[in-house]
Amino acid sequence: MNLDKAIEKVLVSADEINEICKRLGKQITEDYKDSDNLILLGLLNGCIPFMSDLMRYVDLPVQLEFMDVSSYKGGISSSGDIKILMDINTSVVDRDILICEDIVDTGKTLNVVAKLLLHRGAKSVEVVTLLDKPEGRVIPFEPKYIGVTIPKYFVVGYGLDFNELYRNLPYVGVLKEHYYMKDEE
Ligand code: IMP
Repeated sequence: MNLDKAIEKVLVSADEINEICKRLGKQITEDYKDSDNLILLGLLNGCIPFMSDLMRYVDLPVQLEFMDVSSYKGGISSSGDIKILMDINTSVVDRDILICEDIVDTGKTLNVVAKLLLHRGAKSVEVVTLLDKPEGRVIPFEPKYIGVTIPKYFVVGYGLDFNELYRNLPYVGVLKEHYYMKDEE
């Protein structure tokens, strides 16, 4: 099946995503120019396309690390349970950490991860997210770097999934309702 067929409308095009990565990469390069210990910490699996595009515009020495933290167990609503499935592979003591996320919705995932890293001795913890869905917030959380703010749609593509599918779309789009309605019944 052609992936485009499942998409109701394109919300953020591939060209717009590239412009976002350029803008955020430039800003991050400027803000961290005096840091010699920056870690770009991707939250798997959603961070993959965004992190790989964004880092090419970050003109600084940067260590790449990953964590796998589960929040959604498939479907379109947050379970609220946060589990660490794969932890970061290095000490964060006295490191500047920039967490790279595909989307901030309820804020629960980042609230837990940011607190954990600070508790472990990180010097600073900030967040760069491609998408922000502030209407979904349950816990107050302000990402420092935001690509674009979107309404409370369920979106897929460019790292974002529905039941682990559609992450490989080169843009962010709204999934047609009947593709997830069956799952909600
Ligand atoms: P939060 O803890 O609710 O902020 O959850 C953030 C995580 O929920 C993201 O990393 C995504 O994995 C997932 N998520 C939130 N909204 C969407 C969406 O619209 N589409 C796909 N995944 C989403």
